[in-house]
Amino acid sequence: MAEQRDVIEVLEHDHREVEEMFSELESLRGADTEDAKSRRKKLTETVTVELVRHSVAEEVLVYPQVDDKISKEEADHAREEHAEAEETLTRLEKLDADDPVFEAELSTLMEEIRHHVEDEEGQMFAEMRRVIDEDELRKLGSRVEAFKKVAPTRPHPNVPNEPLPRTAAGPAASLFDRMRDAATGFGSGD
Ligand SMILES: [Fe+2]
Ligand SMILES: [Fe+2]
Repeated sequence: MAEQRDVIEVLEHDHREVEEMFSELESLRGADTEDAKSRRKKLTETVTVELVRHSVAEEVLVYPQVDDKISKEEADHAREEHAEAEETLTRLEKLDADDPVFEAELSTLMEEIRHHVEDEEGQMFAEMRRVIDEDELRKLGSRVEAFKKVAPTRPHPNVPNEPLPRTAAGPAASLFDRMRDAATGFGSGD
């Protein structure tokens, strides 16, 4: 069996996957074939699921450790950045890929996430390495991976081939709720 990755390796791997999807989305910018449009919408959904799952895992399993061992302010700053990205994702989910606003919202999302990833990798994770021992980091890594396995994998599981339901809150918002429900129990215990 492969050695358990520590939590920072797990989270940084997620960041790289999201960045790859962002690059592909940027390369599809302005392409107006039906294929390109459906690929953009699909990729946006995949990136949404990945970002929500990753963010909820951090909020439930990682940031509480940062509160305790590094700085409550730093963890709160990260939580605020998640909340902003959550709002952007919720707006984005309600738009078609050929809506002119879609591009603008997608750019906002990429900017927010790239900035947030820089903060985490440049500061928070480096501090975690200094103050949390490797055993503990690996234990957290396995809990994050376990959470990711039980988290929902689709933004709106009941409407496979139909246009998204235009609910007031939007599917991304309900996805956050479902991920947070799935996270119940993962934050407690050692
Ligand atoms: Fe992250
Ligand atoms: Fe984060």
